[in-house]
Parts: sequence; structure tokens; C-alpha cells
Amino acid sequence: MAFPEDFLWGGAIAANQSEGAWNVGGKGLSVADVATYKPDADVKDYKTHVGISLEAIEKAEQEPDSPYYPKRRGIDFYHRYKEDIALFAEMGFKVLRVSIAWSRIFPNGDETEPNEEGIRFYQNLFEELGKNNIEPLVTLSHYEMPLSLATRFNGWTDRRVMDCFVRFSTVCFERFKNYVKLWLTFNEVDSIIRHPFTTAGIIPELCEEKGLLQCCYQALHHQFMASAIAVKRCHEIIPGSRIGCMLTKLTTYPRTCMPEDVLVTLKKNLDNYFYADVMVWGEYPAMMLKYFEKNGIEIPMQSGDEEVLKHGCVDFVSFSYYMTMTESVDENAERTPGNTVLGVKNPYLESSEWGWQIDPVGLRISLTELYDRYRKPLFIVENGIGNRDVLEADKKIHDPYRIEYFRKHFMEMEKAIDDGVELMGYASWAPIDIISASTNQISKRYGFIYVDADDMGNGSYDRYRKDSFYWYKKVIETNGRSLEDEKM
Ligand code: BG6
Repeated sequence: MAFPEDFLWGGAIAANQSEGAWNVGGKGLSVADVATYKPDADVKDYKTHVGISLEAIEKAEQEPDSPYYPKRRGIDFYHRYKEDIALFAEMGFKVLRVSIAWSRIFPNGDETEPNEEGIRFYQNLFEELGKNNIEPLVTLSHYEMPLSLATRFNGWTDRRVMDCFVRFSTVCFERFKNYVKLWLTFNEVDSIIRHPFTTAGIIPELCEEKGLLQCCYQALHHQFMASAIAVKRCHEIIPGSRIGCMLTKLTTYPRTCMPEDVLVTLKKNLDNYFYADVMVWGEYPAMMLKYFEKNGIEIPMQSGDEEVLKHGCVDFVSFSYYMTMTESVDENAERTPGNTVLGVKNPYLESSEWGWQIDPVGLRISLTELYDRYRKPLFIVENGIGNRDVLEADKKIHDPYRIEYFRKHFMEMEKAIDDGVELMGYASWAPIDIISASTNQISKRYGFIYVDADDMGNGSYDRYRKDSFYWYKKVIETNGRSLEDEKM
């Protein structure tokens, strides 16, 4: 097996999907706290789930007790983190990716002084990880910006939000420097186009004058800038730290070898790379600048911005990988959803109940392409499958489908490493059941650990080890060698 001895095996969660305690310890409302569970909506129609309006936000603010905002309760990680970390340690985790809820530190986003109670929570969390020999990998922004910045400034479209984020990230570096050496700036920075509110607090109704696309790219520029500044500060404040970008790796194949299909696919893939290109190389690709020009999009570049981007390049490239897509110019080609995308169905792949196409070889392809393009260490910081699990009467959960998914992906990962790809680590999404980012369900379960709760928040919230828990433990214990035994 090719996994290096210091390979960081572990898992990844996000504050807004796990912590709960949405109004505890001085925390302000975040954009995630108004995300609604829509039981009647088709789970394959992601746009309905991630859509937002001013009216919906107002309604949410007036419904503190409604069960339809599952991210407010998460899995109560805020109060149960010690128990959960003990379970991660039992599996042998070397790394846990978490995020910091910005509105726990700056409730409205633009205060000048941080909320000490929020700081204490994360210090305690990092200390607990330290006691269990688990290295934290921390995302500064994972779909949970303060709601107040969204409603007052239309989110990241306003350059002032960039200053707020820089203050937030500087406080994080200063106060957590003794605990955290591995950082990420923006989760799935490319997702701003797919769900502008979740990613950047952009409220579509407030974009009528400029247009939604203009607002998205304007906000994105501010995120690129904020990321570049954060990278520099991180290096200055925490010697030996490493900070990466985070991309949704949406590898797309042409449906046929017809040149038109190949071309449309090439453009899709280049568009997916664009975000990491800026963060790795510190400048906008010429073809994107041309695209902006042709579409009347103005990047709000100020004097000095280009220099800032150039000097804030990331140390490594991290990404999420769940599925691949296919593309075609044929408008009648059958389509299927993926991770907040819609693509053409690939006849060679099976899909999950949510329509996401399962493609382990696609992970090897993605690793190879990313490493060849950027020549930077890679980190898989999300990968997994959402399934419905059954808690049996004897409190066991048999999930061979999950084991199968991970086994096949790990085998491809190993082959990519063997080909020469430099891979720092692997964090499964999510090692414990949490609230789905897109559909707000907990019944879309990803974990090795089952959480006894339903979509309406009923349940004991007790944790149970699934069969996959023991399987992953063995993989980590043997640094992947157990996969070889399974092949025999
Ligand atoms: C990634 C996000 O896109 O996909 C996570 O970074 C999310 O926050 C994960 O949970 C899986 O998506 P979902 O919608 O099934 O939770």
C-alpha cells in the first residue's frame, strides 16, 4: 500500500451542520440558521432547497421555536464534542476538519471585539482534540456567515465584509495559534455561483439592479482578496502553519467523443478550476477576464488588489469529491443531479438515492488532474455518501453500501499516490451523521457513527457505531493495508 506513514486519516464536519446551540454563548444568527427543511420538496431539486427570499429570512427570524430549521440544532456537537471526539479517537483519527462559526466569535460580523465565550468554546474543542492526538484542520468560512452581514450588506458583494472577515480570521489565528497549524479559507469557494446565499450571504432580490451574476463575481473577488490577506496573516502569526484553498471537485466527462461534447466539457472543467487557479497562482486566468468582458461583468478591482492576490497564494489544494458529471450539447440528454449541480447522466455509473453518481475512478482522475495542474500537495477534505440507515432493535447499523463506497474510493486514492500524486490526507464527510448542507435532512446520513435523531429533531441524539465504524478503524490502524487483505 502506498499511503505514506504520516498520512492524515480522519473526518470532516462543519460548525453549522453539527454544533447546534444556535443561540447559546452569545452566538448571533448565521445564514445557516434560516435554512429550512422542506419535507415536501424533491430531494433531487437542489435549487428549491438552497433558495432564499427576504420574506423567508424574516419569517425565520420570527420563529425561534420552529423545528424546520435543523441547522439550529445540528447534532448538538456544541455540548457533546467530548463524547464525539472520543469516538473519533477510537477510530484512530489523525485529523479532524472542523469550521469556526463566524457568528459565535462576531455575532453580527462587524463588531470590533470578539465574543470571548465563542473563543473559549473553540479553545476547549482544540484542547480536547490535542488530548486525543487529533490534529485540527480548520475552515474559516463554511456556509455560516453572520446573517446580519447578509441582510445589511447583501453579503460579500460589499467590500466592507472583506474587512470583517479579515478581522475575524486574524482573531482566529491569534487566539488559536497554539492549537491549529492547518487552515482552509473558504469552503467550496466555487459554490458561490450555485448557492450565493449559503456561500456568500447574497440575497437574490437585492441584486435586481446589478444582476445576480455580477453580484456573485463581485463577491467572489472580495473572497479571493480576503483569502489572500488571510494566507499572509496566517503565515505571519503562526510560524509553520499551512493554509489551503478548498474546491468542489466537479470532474466532468464528455458524453461522447463528438468534438462539440468534448469542447463543452472542457469549458465546464476549466470553469471549475478557475477558482483554485486564482488562489494557487494569484491572478485571474486570461480566459475568465475575457468572459467577464463579454458578459458585461465588472470585477471591482482596486489599486493594489493584484499585488495582494499575487502575495497570498495558498500552500496546498484541498477539495471535496463525491461524484462526477457528464456533459453534452444534446439538450435532450437525460440529466441527473450531483452536489448542487445538474449534469448529464452517465450510463456507466450508479447513483445514490439523491441522484449523485458514484465514481471511485473519478477520484483518481481528479487527483491526477489537480496534482498535474497545480503541483501542490493535495488534501481530500470531503468524500462520502449519503444513505438512509436503519437502527436495528439491537442498536446495530449494518451499512455495507458505505463500506463499499469508501473501499473503492480508497483503492483509487492509493493508485493515485502510487502514480506520484502528493496527498497529505483524507477526511471523510462526515464521520458522524450531521445535517445535510443542501436538503437540511439528517436522514441523508454520511457517518460511521449514527445519531439517533430524525428530520424534525425527534430522538435521543445518542450515538451508535455503525459497521463501517469498525471497518474504517481497521483501515486507519493498518494505514490502508487492510484494503489489500479485502482484495484477496
Ligand atoms: C459539500 C459541503 O458540498 O457537500 C458540505 O461542503 C456538505 O457542507 C457536503 O454537507 C454534502 O452535501 P449534502 O448536501 O449532502 O450535505
